[in-house]
Amino acid sequence: MLGGAEPARARPGAIGPVPATGDEGFRRLFARPLVVLAPMEDVTDAVFRALCRRLGADLCFTEFVNVEGLLRGCRRARRKMTLGPEDQPTAIQIYGADAGRLCEAAEAAAQAGAAFVDINCGCSVAKIARRGAGSGWLRDPRALAAMAALVVRAVSVPVTVKTRVGMGTEPEMPIVDLARRLEDAGVRALSLHCRTVQAGLSGRADWSWAARAQAAVRMPVIVNGDIRSAEDARRALAETGCAGVMVGRRAIEHPWIFREARALLERGEIVPAPSVAERLALCREHLAANHAARGEPWGVRVTRRHLAGYLRGLPGAARLRQRLFACDALDGCLAILAEASLRLGSPGP
Ligand SMILES: Cc1cc2nc3c(=O)[nH]c(=O)nc-3n(C[C@H](O)[C@H](O)[C@H](O)COP(=O)(O)O)c2cc1C
Repeated sequence: MLGGAEPARARPGAIGPVPATGDEGFRRLFARPLVVLAPMEDVTDAVFRALCRRLGADLCFTEFVNVEGLLRGCRRARRKMTLGPEDQPTAIQIYGADAGRLCEAAEAAAQAGAAFVDINCGCSVAKIARRGAGSGWLRDPRALAAMAALVVRAVSVPVTVKTRVGMGTEPEMPIVDLARRLEDAGVRALSLHCRTVQAGLSGRADWSWAARAQAAVRMPVIVNGDIRSAEDARRALAETGCAGVMVGRRAIEHPWIFREARALLERGEIVPAPSVAERLALCREHLAANHAARGEPWGVRVTRRHLAGYLRGLPGAARLRQRLFACDALDGCLAILAEASLRLGSPGP
């Protein structure tokens, strides 16, 4: 790992001092290679963060929060950045096109208890990027770094950035130079989705960009894209020298990846795949927690995107999934899962 525990480097011309508050916690957090839950809209809510943390995630990110919605007092934006006392360390991620509004929103995020404030500069959704937010910032890396410097100055918690390697249209990818600029601006860590904006989520992530970015800076770089197993996590860290790995889509269907990666990284151990009982228990736990948080039917419906993955590989999984997906009531889902427990000879709740 390259200097993950070090404070941001002082360079000639560096903009402003790095804020002190939260430094100690930040340094301690990055003292070992991190396995991080990626920010994902409609996925990484408080319930899913708690579940991933229990399964070994070192650090979680909220869904991205629209600064305009937040500053207008929109309830959805407020809900996204509400952190319970156990919800730490969690970074609150914000996105917007205007540096001043990002500063205001960053203050609100800091007050909400964010371990640090993360600025989304990588979202490739057209209606967001076209307005200059998310990956729209990558069109002008200098402006991106200047914006980050303002946000750093506005808050007393560490500020981090999540971005991609470039738009994909440039003759040369800007990420290495941008990483240096961000470090100079006082940004404390960089999460790098190793694809271009043009690529969206298609093609393979090229981790070599994370290696190049990490070699150019002392702040921690977290490598993201296509980390789908503990072995991928180990290989990504070994190949890039990064301070951590960030897991997105694989966590939705297999949150056990966090404990599997931790075991491999810390002890060289390959832990067994989750048992039938564990898979069914996670279905029950996730359904019940979402039901408590959102009521019926939404609590049940939002859990569905996870259930197919949790049940994958079980005998009769397709039929079980069909029955669960047709049911909007928690009690009904729990009864279907109890039947499956009996059929599969696994102990129930
Ligand atoms: C459903 C979904 C929602 C996402 N929402 C966000 C988001 O709110 N903020 C963000 O920075 N990236 C978001 N991403 C991108 C992921 O954080 C991550 O960079 C991307 O999925 C690549 O990692 P993976 O290959 O591990 O999935 C989202 C991705 C998915 C699939």
